[in-house]
Amino acid sequence: MQLSPLQSRLAASVIASCLVIVLYLFLFAPQFALAADLTGFPSSDLDYNDVFHEIDDTVDSYDAQSPSYEPEFSLLDRSIIGRVADGSNSLDLDHPTSSNIVPGSTIAYVFEAASVSGRSAQEHDMTYELRRHSNETREVSEGDGDDELGAGMDLVRRQPSKTLYISVNTCQQPSRISPDQTSMAPPQLTLFVSTSGENTSPGPGKDQNTQKIIVFDEGAAIYNTSLDRDVYFSISAPEVSEKYFSTSLPYNYEVTVSLDQYYYSYDSIAQPNLYLVDSDASSAYLTTLNLTSSSDQVVSTPPYTVFVQSADNPDINGIRNSYCGLNNWAQIRPLKDGNSQATTGLRQGGDGNLTMQEFYISGLNASTNYTGIIALNTNLTVQKRQESGAGEGFTGGTIVYKGVNFTTKPNGACTFVFNLTLCTETRYAVPGNLENFPNGTALAAFYDNYTRTMWDNFDKVLQQTPCQAPATQRYSLAKDCDDCKQAYKNWLCSVAIPRCEDFSSPDESYLQMRNINAPFPNGTLVDESIRNKFGNVRAYNSSRNVEIDNTVQPGPYKEVLPCDYLCYELVRSCPSSIGFSCPLQKSKFSFNTSYAIPDNDKELSCNYPGSAYYPSAASAMAVSWISIMTLITLLLLL
Ligand SMILES: *[C@@H]1O[C@H](CO)[C@@H](O)[C@H](O)[C@H]1NC(C)=O
Ligand SMILES: *[C@@H]1O[C@H](CO)[C@@H](O)[C@H](O)[C@H]1NC(C)=O
Ligand SMILES: *[C@@H]1O[C@H](CO)[C@@H](O)[C@H](O)[C@H]1NC(C)=O
Ligand SMILES: *[C@@H]1O[C@H](CO)[C@@H](O)[C@H](O)[C@H]1NC(C)=O
Ligand SMILES: *[C@@H]1O[C@H](CO)[C@@H](O)[C@H](O)[C@H]1NC(C)=O
Ligand SMILES: *[C@@H]1O[C@H](CO)[C@@H](O)[C@H](O)[C@H]1NC(C)=O
Ligand SMILES: *[C@@H]1O[C@H](CO)[C@@H](O)[C@H](O)[C@H]1NC(C)=O
Ligand SMILES: *[C@@H]1O[C@H](CO)[C@@H](O)[C@H](O)[C@H]1NC(C)=O
Ligand SMILES: *[C@@H]1O[C@H](CO)[C@@H](O)[C@H](O)[C@H]1NC(C)=O
Repeated sequence: MQLSPLQSRLAASVIASCLVIVLYLFLFAPQFALAADLTGFPSSDLDYNDVFHEIDDTVDSYDAQSPSYEPEFSLLDRSIIGRVADGSNSLDLDHPTSSNIVPGSTIAYVFEAASVSGRSAQEHDMTYELRRHSNETREVSEGDGDDELGAGMDLVRRQPSKTLYISVNTCQQPSRISPDQTSMAPPQLTLFVSTSGENTSPGPGKDQNTQKIIVFDEGAAIYNTSLDRDVYFSISAPEVSEKYFSTSLPYNYEVTVSLDQYYYSYDSIAQPNLYLVDSDASSAYLTTLNLTSSSDQVVSTPPYTVFVQSADNPDINGIRNSYCGLNNWAQIRPLKDGNSQATTGLRQGGDGNLTMQEFYISGLNASTNYTGIIALNTNLTVQKRQESGAGEGFTGGTIVYKGVNFTTKPNGACTFVFNLTLCTETRYAVPGNLENFPNGTALAAFYDNYTRTMWDNFDKVLQQTPCQAPATQRYSLAKDCDDCKQAYKNWLCSVAIPRCEDFSSPDESYLQMRNINAPFPNGTLVDESIRNKFGNVRAYNSSRNVEIDNTVQPGPYKEVLPCDYLCYELVRSCPSSIGFSCPLQKSKFSFNTSYAIPDNDKELSCNYPGSAYYPSAASAMAVSWISIMTLITLLLLL
């Protein structure tokens, strides 16, 4: 086809215009791409992140070359800083990032408000960058790259402001040179935070009016601040005395930023949800109270991790609030290979058949003070939240609670048993003998067999009473055979399986000496004055149940007497024809050696199914739960 001169001039100018546009695009493409980002987001995640990566690269290379960033310390320091730069250049939200820091140095971060501009509930998986910087690199990043982002930041500022939650845990600290247990812990790290444009690298020696100083509390620091502007923060390690500490291990920390809550949190004030059930010379059993408030809430994964530390071991001093610190240094902790001296599991029972988490800790030393610390994995809460559709980019973390102190028993007569088949609520130390019954499993089988025998006898007797008869023909209008069975079981389990305390434990009205004429495992005898005074009294010179003295043959021990209401409940609930009776309180002597009256001011003042060292406020609750609620729940099991 031939073109007219006019047409060919048009064609030529169209082609020329196209070339100009192509040339323009070629030269100024970045602006176009960015403009598309700002108008088109949040669809273009990739471009958005790329912009950040480019800027990061600039920061990176500048860092590496910047003479002003040259550390004043030593060559070693520079290599550490180099590693840090690699590790922490891009900190994802809700992902802990680890860094070493040598004493006397500071590592700075900035979190730009703009980096969360495109964030919405749907795209919480997107990662955002937290960039390390120093004063000098800041100038670079404020160059062309940031100017163009300025428009984006304005967009952010018009939205309701978000909160940035910064949490830092000390995972490692310089080690003590002196093996002396009382030597002081290494000094704590410090977190500096600034939201002032005038102080873009907070740290020691900067203007105090423009920065917040948060000294770590036992290895943990948390801080929240509004994200309506860029947040600058730094972590600073103090100089440590070479006289007391070896810096061959530098400090190491994990820092996490979140928009929903602290990733690494701690609570060193509240009573933790952890209680000692009982211990023996080598193990301890700890429990939480109910994890849910109704029995249809299912907990599938144990939410707590337990750490145990001997009071004689200072390794976790200074990092007791730090999850990663405990996870690295606690004496008893979950090991990488999945093993631990602590086994844990969930159990449904007690009040309303609610779920509790229990911990069995083995391999402990006798007569030693320990601290148990639990940390909650908040991933559990996340699951709940996401099921209800309320979760927004919330990936959990941990809360470390205050420690709970407990003491193991001396090497003596008491051995911890649990997992019995009839007395399912029984988990405490019982009179034992390591020669005849080398472990708790064997001893538990003995007590299980014994209570089963008693139970079967009782059942035969109960079958003589008209249980199935209409209410008017029963032995009581208020009680039936199921009440009687339950009351008998609670009573039997507390009386036939004595709760054991070591003979050396201080005298208490609820503790009754038993078997005082028998020798201790080491062959020695009970103090002569005690034997002279009580040696002929049956309540003192034997166990409550002769099978124990005949078969187990424990040494002298003290029994935590069963609660008196277990006996009253038995008499009230069962047909009088069976002939149960309780010692009268007036007959002080036989009552005092058989039962104890609950005392709500004490953690443990008498024995009942499910007894544990609950603090006094909770013990009232525990007693009522036993007397009312377990009756109901266990009835269902019968
Ligand atoms: C955030 O910080 C303020 C004061 O700095 C504090 O009162 C508040 O409890 C913190 N919020 C959370 C969730 O910790
Ligand atoms: C435990 O149960 C009680 C009573 O049912 C309830 O008030 C409490 O909130 C529960 N605890 C938890 C952690 O759900
Ligand atoms: C038990 O004692 C030994 C010797 O004192 C010690 O090495 C060990 O760490 C202790 N173990 C625990 C769990 O306390
Ligand atoms: C929480 O869940 C995330 C992802 O499911 C997992 O990577 C993280 O390790 C969990 N945290 C803990 C403390 O178990
Ligand atoms: C409890 O006993 C059952 C069998 O009676 C056994 O299978 C289970 O492993 C025991 N649990 C523990 C924690 O010992
Ligand atoms: C417990 O002792 C019995 C012997 O009485 C033995 O057969 C069993 O293996 C022991 N169990 C453990 C866990 O040591
Ligand atoms: C169980 O107990 C009964 C009576 O106390 C006793 O005769 C029997 O030998 C015991 N059985 C075992 C396996 O210990
Ligand atoms: C023997 O054991 C008892 C009780 O455990 C203890 O009081 C006593 O001091 C021990 N005697 C010796 C010589 O070890
Ligand atoms: C029984 O115990 C009560 C309270 O502990 C005490 O007052 C009383 O003297 C004791 N009676 C005897 C005979 O020990």
